[in-house]
Amino acid sequence: MSEELYRLVYYSRNAIDGDEAALAAAISSILEKSQINNQRVGVTGALMFNSGCFAQVLEGSCSAVEAVFERIQQDERHGDVSLLAFDPAPSRAFENWSMGFVGASVDDAARYGTLVQASGFDPARMTGEALFETLYRLALEEERAAA
Ligand SMILES: Cc1cc2nc3c(=O)[nH]c(=O)nc-3n(C[C@H](O)[C@H](O)[C@H](O)COP(=O)(O)O)c2cc1C
Repeated sequence: MSEELYRLVYYSRNAIDGDEAALAAAISSILEKSQINNQRVGVTGALMFNSGCFAQVLEGSCSAVEAVFERIQQDERHGDVSLLAFDPAPSRAFENWSMGFVGASVDDAARYGTLVQASGFDPARMTGEALFETLYRLALEEERAAA
């Protein structure tokens, strides 16, 4: 019997110091590690960086998502980690992504993603559902662009 699927949504504030290049390198390294780790434990999801904030969706078994989120919360590359949702989900929204980076390329996100006023994006004002919908829409756009 397959385990019940869960979906977790959170946002956090960037704590990576340094210039654009350092930020881009740190995000790339987070993604590389995430893709390896998540694939191993059947977790899928998406990450975005904008306005100095990370927003992330994780989906998988309850125990796998909890274990990954536990590690993420300890990570000093971000802070003020705010959990918006952690609920059973009917199906995976990011089936093809062990951890997709959405919204912009890593380089563009590092270049422009610290400009709060540029986009008006403020995950602190969004519900878990709205943030999930945003990442899902961006992932669909990227899948379409890649096809
Ligand atoms: C914004 C952000 C998102 C992250 N997302 C994940 C993730 O999806 N999966 C993961 O394994 N680690 C993720 N990490 C990294 C973890 O915090 C941690 O560094 C990593 O899991 C440690 O892996 P290791 O024990 O294999 O070295 C993320 C870190 C940050 C700052």
